[in-house]
Amino acid sequence: MRILAIETSCDETAVAIINAEGDELSARFTVLGNALLSQIEIHKEYGGVFPMLAKREHAKNLVPLLSAALEEAELLTEDTQALPEQMYDAVAKLLEREPGLDEAFLEFIGETETPEIDAIAVTAGPGLEPALWVGINFAKALALVWKKPVIAVNHMEGHILAALAEEDVEGLSIEHVAFPLLALLISGGHTELVAMSEWRSYTLIGQTKDDAVGEAYDKVARMLDLPYPGGPEISKLSEFLRKTDPDPTGGNLETPFSLPRPLLHDNTCDFSFSGLKTAVLYALKKRTGLSPDERVQMAYEFENAVAEVLWKKTARALEETGAKTLVIGGGVSANTHIRRVFKDKIAKAHPGVALRIPPARLTTDNAIMIALAGFYRARMSDFADPDALIAHGTQSLA
Ligand code: KG4
Ligand code: ZN
Repeated sequence: MRILAIETSCDETAVAIINAEGDELSARFTVLGNALLSQIEIHKEYGGVFPMLAKREHAKNLVPLLSAALEEAELLTEDTQALPEQMYDAVAKLLEREPGLDEAFLEFIGETETPEIDAIAVTAGPGLEPALWVGINFAKALALVWKKPVIAVNHMEGHILAALAEEDVEGLSIEHVAFPLLALLISGGHTELVAMSEWRSYTLIGQTKDDAVGEAYDKVARMLDLPYPGGPEISKLSEFLRKTDPDPTGGNLETPFSLPRPLLHDNTCDFSFSGLKTAVLYALKKRTGLSPDERVQMAYEFENAVAEVLWKKTARALEETGAKTLVIGGGVSANTHIRRVFKDKIAKAHPGVALRIPPARLTTDNAIMIALAGFYRARMSDFADPDALIAHGTQSLA
């Protein structure tokens, strides 16, 4: 099965084409084409993602990225047959709210033959609604012209599948997935623990009461005068100090800072990160600026607090669910220290649990993960009615 996938939920515009073989027990995927454009440089100026700007950029970039992905997949063939008038009007109507995209789309589609794909998968939520709509309307227009079914994918489901995927020279595979499974999903918009008793059966075990962990990273980074996105910047600083730590998983080096571990000892699997962020703010207010060493120490202490809370809550959820597999997904799962802590703790305290972390290139938002999730939905004949397909900014998995 060949799936073309589109991702526009936040600040990455991405189009991918994969070939999928096999079933839920054992699936193999070949990435035929993959085109991604990050808007990070544009949003940096604002210190975060600006939704209307994200929407405009998606509208500008989708056609060139589609063209690039099709070309890489060797599925781009020129067609000289004009689009029927009726189709032209229907597409123009579908894309009327996406300035710039309608013209580029009609020009491209008018000179391109229908590619040999079986379905179009698109992120329907959660994410920034104006951004999601661009991808959804684009997918609807493609489905209409190419007469292909549409699959609506949940973005967090994509992160889970990216984490289950193993990469080798021939491509990606997903097999030997032992249920029940627990997923710790940590990104710019989410922090949640989700249990899966089988494919597509989700139960929310815990979630943040306020900020997402990636959001906390980004806000603390801004306080430390580090650029957006803050996660990798804070990680870089604290890793610098961890090099001198005899036990890099422990985080026991002395620093002048002592930050709280919010909700560490309450008996739920919920999180809270806004107090941690505020504690950083107060600590900074007490001093007139930080020395370069203190900045590094603050990043280190912040990351220790985050990793400790994430691990403790996950350990509680592992006990509660009896999970055999632990998945960590979402942009923050790229974090070196969090990966290190989880690998160490699982090996020592839960050796029977299989830890699955995404291959590096699939950690942050991309369209390959949406294509993978699309495959499992297609296997269950879960196709969307294009007329009823809408963006769900806060769509939950469970
Ligand atoms: O999943 P993602 O790409 O987009 C959302 O769906 O939100 O996650 C982006 C988030 C940002 O908050 C970014 O700072 C964080 O992931 N992030 C990291 C790292 N790389 C990205 N956080 C900590 N350490 C990293 N290495
Ligand atoms: Zn994401």
